[in-house]
Order: sequence, then C-alpha cells, then structure tokens
Amino acid sequence: MENIQTYLNSNKDRLLNELLELLKIPSISADSAYKNDVLKTSEFVSESLKKAGCDHVEICKTDGYPIVYGHKIIDSSLPTILVYGHYDVQPADPLDLWDSSPFEPIIKKTDLHPEGAIFARGSSDDKGQMYMHVKAMEFMTSTNQLPCNVKFMIEGEEEIGSVSLSKFVRENQEKLANDVILISDTGMIAKDIPSITTGLRGLSYVEVEVTGPNRDLHSGLYGGTVANPINILTKMIASLHDDNNHITIPGFYDKVEELSLEERDDMAKAPFSLEAYKSALDIDAVYGEKGYVTNERNSIRPTLDVNGIWGGYIGEGAKTVIASKAYAKISMRLVPHQDWIEITELFKTHFENIAPKGVTIKVTPHHGGQGYVTPTNSIGYQAASEAYEDTFGTKPIPQRSGGSIPIVALFEEELKSKTILMGFGLNSDAIHSPNEHFGLFNYFKGIETIPLFYKYFTELKAKS
Ligand code: BES
Ligand code: MN
Ligand code: MN
Repeated sequence: MENIQTYLNSNKDRLLNELLELLKIPSISADSAYKNDVLKTSEFVSESLKKAGCDHVEICKTDGYPIVYGHKIIDSSLPTILVYGHYDVQPADPLDLWDSSPFEPIIKKTDLHPEGAIFARGSSDDKGQMYMHVKAMEFMTSTNQLPCNVKFMIEGEEEIGSVSLSKFVRENQEKLANDVILISDTGMIAKDIPSITTGLRGLSYVEVEVTGPNRDLHSGLYGGTVANPINILTKMIASLHDDNNHITIPGFYDKVEELSLEERDDMAKAPFSLEAYKSALDIDAVYGEKGYVTNERNSIRPTLDVNGIWGGYIGEGAKTVIASKAYAKISMRLVPHQDWIEITELFKTHFENIAPKGVTIKVTPHHGGQGYVTPTNSIGYQAASEAYEDTFGTKPIPQRSGGSIPIVALFEEELKSKTILMGFGLNSDAIHSPNEHFGLFNYFKGIETIPLFYKYFTELKAKS
C-alpha cells in the first residue's frame, strides 16, 4: 500500500498548485463586494471534496453564505470524524503593507521557512489548513486507507461570526452526528514543537457610539462649553482598565475560573522566550494584567481591547472642529464560564452608567461566542497526541489559545461531542495581518499527520 511519504513526493506540485488556485479567490465574507467570490469558493471546495473521494457532497444554502457538506460513510459501525473548517477569509487591507498581492499567492523563502512559505490571505487561516484535510482525505481514499467514516462541514462565515452555521448545526443534529470533531484552524508552539490547542477564548464584540451636540461645531466658539464626544469616549475607554490593567466593569470577573498554582506551573513549562516574543514584535516591553505572565494573559485571562476608533476630522491639515459623534469597536476575549451574552449586558450597562451628562450612548453588540476547554484524557486527544508524535518525533504540548472559534462551544452543546484542535499554523504566520503566510513544511506536515489521527482514533475507539 502506498505510504504517505511516496504520496507526498509524487504529488507535491499538484497538492501545492491546487491550494494556490483556492487562495486566488478573494473570499472575503465581511465585504459584500466579494459575494460572488465567496460563492465561487464554496463551489471550489465542493468540487475538491468530490475529488477527494466523498461519496456525497452538497452546497447547503443558508440565509448567508453556503455551508459545504460532504461525507463518506464506509461502515455505520465504525466511528465518524466530523471535520470543520472555513473557506472565508479576513479582508486584506491595509493593502499597501503587503509585499505581494494578497490574492496572487507566491512562494517565498524566509528565515523560518527556508523551504518556502505561501504568502496569501487565507493561506494559514484557514484555507491552507482546511485544504490539508481535503488532501489527507484524498490520500486515504485513493490508497484504500480510510479507516472510518468522515463528514466534512466547511463554512463561509467564520470570520463574521458563524451566524448561519449556528442555525445549521441546531437544525441538522442527525446529519452531523459524529464521535469527534477535528479542526485545523489554530496554531502550534513552534515548527519543531507540536501542540494541541485545549482551549479557546470566548468573545463579545461591540460597537459604541457617543453623541454630543447635534452637529459638528467650531472648536473655538464651542470648545470648553460642551461635552466633546471624542474626549468623552477616550476618557470612558481609558477608565475600562485600572492601574493594574484589570478590567473595571462590575461583575466582569465574577465567573472567571481561577487556575490552581499547579495548573499555572504546568503552563509555565511550555517553551516560551519573552525576548523572542518582544523582538518579533519590535517592542521593548510587554504590557498586561498585573499578576499574570504573557502566556497567561493571552489564554486564561479575559481582556478588553479597542479594535478601532474614529470621529472628527482626520483629513490633511487642521480643521478646528468638535465632532458631533465618536465611535469605537471593542472586543472582549472571554474565558470559560464567562457567558458572552451576560458580559455584553454588563458592558452595556456599565458604559451607559459612566457616561457624563451632555452625551448619549449607543452600544450595539456585533457577535460573540463562548470559550472552550477540552480535557487531555479523551480518546481524541490521545489519538492526536500519538499522530503528532509519529510525524514530529516528539509529544505535543497541550496549550490554551487566546483566539476564538465560537462555533466550537456550540458543537459541544448541540452535537455532544468533543473537538480536537490540531492546528499547524504558527504565530508568525501573520493571520489577519498583511503578508499572511503558511509554511510549506506546515502544509505537508498537516497532510502527513491527519491520516494518523484517523488511524489512532479508530483503533482507540475500538478498544474503548
Ligand atoms: N482561526 C482563527 C482563530 C484562532 C487562530 C484561534 C489562532 C487560535 C489560534 C479564527 O478564524 C478567527 O480569526 N476567529 C476570530 C473570531 C471570529 C468570531 C471572528 C478571532 O479569534 O478573532
Ligand atoms: Mn480561522
Ligand atoms: Mn480568522
């Protein structure tokens, strides 16, 4: 039977070129100007699942972008793995900060990736990682090595909150029934240090609007006499953290799970260099909540960040004006047990309470989702661990991530199954940023490791 190495060697160019074709379609879900491209991408994914050996594939219509579903059921008594991924990508702007065009993928060598990396929006998040699963499936079906049943569910709205998918999951529990959910949409510690993501943070994303006078005013004639919405908004935002960088919203921390010292000691064992972290970002110091180290601040602790802020005159030169309105977009990353709807309410109440007389406040929630933690003693975790150990020669390290994939908590709630997050990305991939890239090493390692998860999961399940 053909093994994965010979398969990868004899198909290398094709496996790469197909991904490049996928990356050329600008499937930006946030921007309706790209609607046709997003739809075109769903067809690309559907075709690729058919070619990979799924015996049933459909493009499921939703109120938003379609969900591509495919499966191959070989024996109903065998376990079923549900693979989830997303074919939509983040907007590429600011375009002028890209060294090459975001939707004209190119392969470039870097210090970290001497064998090359694919530069394109979506290369790591998540088209490249999702496509590893399609190609791993193709390998298994074409060489008669698929050990269990598989279902694919690839959505086109992850980057905008998975609204349609939430409904789809609630309405299709039987169709989506599975023994484990497998996702590659996260990262690992380093190229030679595999890790399994055991936690994701929740999210509450809100937009705030502060309105002062009914029109923009001359800042000489009115300056000093009315509440300036931009002054007020920035003051209100600044007050959301205290001197220790704790968030000041009453009740915000009530449900936050405090980790034991033992658990925190375990976390501290994961390889991490603060110097390398700082130098990769060109900063002279890290900054964050007192009492916690960087790897805690970005995983087990909740945060609040302004993602965008605007108002008033930002054109060339000076214009003396007091704006009528000021705006900000604010995200709160949440940890397990914090309920995103409750936190959104707490934020709204607090933000309205701290506003002085003279302005009115509007808080508009965007989207959100619950956090997730998964134990390391499940069959799924064990299967993933053995798979990584085979291909990397070292046991993967469990690690909670700071990012969010809100649908994962809903999967557990609705489908009652655990999700295994087998990510092959790196922090240096620059996801959501200019010059996003994905190492060829990572792409091929993913295709190599995934079939082993199938094998070990099926074996362990049979023994359990
Ligand atoms: N794949 C990311 C999430 C991620 C990346 C988790 C790396 C862990 C490590 C996902 O596509 C994403 O960007 N999620 C959004 C949330 C979503 C609701 C827009 C996020 O985390 O900002
Ligand atoms: Mn993603
Ligand atoms: Mn993303």
